Amino acid sequence: MAQLWGGRFTKETDKLVYNFNASISFDQKFFKQDIEGSMAHVKMLAKQKILSEEDKNQILSGLESILADVIDGKLEITNEYEDIHSFVEATLIERIGEAGKKLHTGRSRNDQVALDMKLYTRQEVVALKQLLKDLLEVILTIMEEHTQTYMPGFTHLQKAQPITLAHHMGAYFEMFKRDSLRLHDIYERMNFCPLGSGALAGTTYPLDRKYTAQLLNFYGPTLNSMDSVADRDYVIELLSALSTIMMHLSRFSEEIIIWNSNEYHFVEIDDAYSTGSSIMPQKKNPDIAELVRGKTGRVYGALMSILTTMKGIPLAYNKDMQEDKELTFDAIDTVKGCIALFTGMLKTLKFNKDVMKRSAMKGFTNATDAADYLVNHGVPFRDAHGIIGKLVLYCIDQNKAIDELSLDELKAISPVFEQDIYEAVSLETCVNKRMTIGAPGPDAMKEVIHINRKYLSL
Ligand code: ARG
Repeated sequence: MAQLWGGRFTKETDKLVYNFNASISFDQKFFKQDIEGSMAHVKMLAKQKILSEEDKNQILSGLESILADVIDGKLEITNEYEDIHSFVEATLIERIGEAGKKLHTGRSRNDQVALDMKLYTRQEVVALKQLLKDLLEVILTIMEEHTQTYMPGFTHLQKAQPITLAHHMGAYFEMFKRDSLRLHDIYERMNFCPLGSGALAGTTYPLDRKYTAQLLNFYGPTLNSMDSVADRDYVIELLSALSTIMMHLSRFSEEIIIWNSNEYHFVEIDDAYSTGSSIMPQKKNPDIAELVRGKTGRVYGALMSILTTMKGIPLAYNKDMQEDKELTFDAIDTVKGCIALFTGMLKTLKFNKDVMKRSAMKGFTNATDAADYLVNHGVPFRDAHGIIGKLVLYCIDQNKAIDELSLDELKAISPVFEQDIYEAVSLETCVNKRMTIGAPGPDAMKEVIHINRKYLSL
């Protein structure tokens, strides 16, 4: 058991207490950030003449050797240390002796851990944004290819009006674009450096916090030392954004599961992204989509957990906050995996265009347009609605689509119908006529695709 704080104690820590308290099993995940933060701290101490150039150089080369050896697997991070901070400091002292004992001058583990967690999550925000960008690229490519691929649009999971695949995909593009912008906002708000806040009240050393912040690529130092060590808002914001990403992925997964079902058969999931059954030889299951949907609960759980943990903590640092790590790491890894797998599944998804089109033609998705036809010929909308209702009933009885009826049959229901009704309610017309920005008409879609192409190229 290696601890940094034995001086005041007369008894050994109970083994169970030690294990309960220790965080090395999980905070070793940010060993790189811990070392990077220490390097910046030491450079600042030397610049301020708090540390000699010689001590600085010894410490820096010691830290570099630790970093390299951990990466190469020559040095193992073991449970013998309480946390990653103790591991790095103890190993440094072991390697370079006296100078190593000066590393922690003007620093507390409270501002140190606040920095490590920020550096780690900041890096992951960037990685997550890139993964979302890859997903957006796949969605936009599908949109470009399918501005004329007709399908039914649904409300209440009932066929409503015809749309295109490009239009449906475009909805998800907007969702993931907002997710990406949310990550951007979080980055902007979190990117201030807590190091130099000490345990809670700053330090008496003449630290140059602006310089440390600059070395670590922050916009500047945080402005209140108590808040600096007690703030986990950025973790909450990140987990909230991750929960929203999972909610979007889960809805998309649910649609793919429905579309991939035997009844719909709109899409076929590639073999590489499906699994079989151990007993039913005919099965090809959408397990990846189901797992993405399932893992959503886990990420929501992380958000609820940290919100609950933080709600009763008085200022400033309290050990409760150590609980932020495992769940944040797990949520980040889960979401990264889900986005990457989902992107692969979507990229290889086969769309059965004919099935989609047939489905849009059956199910009266052009009923609104048929009513609009009557309105354009002088029938008040409410009456038109009633007439088309009757027409639909007749069609159901005859097992026909509206455009499969003869003009005589149509005229028997309303004499207003003329030959041009067929053109007016064709799938192509129904979609093409919806030309306002945001609607499925191919020209409107192309404009949106152009805007989004530009967004992705930034
Ligand atoms: N492992 C601790 C954490 O994650 C590091 C900070 C420890 N500070 C302290 N005063 N015990 O929060």
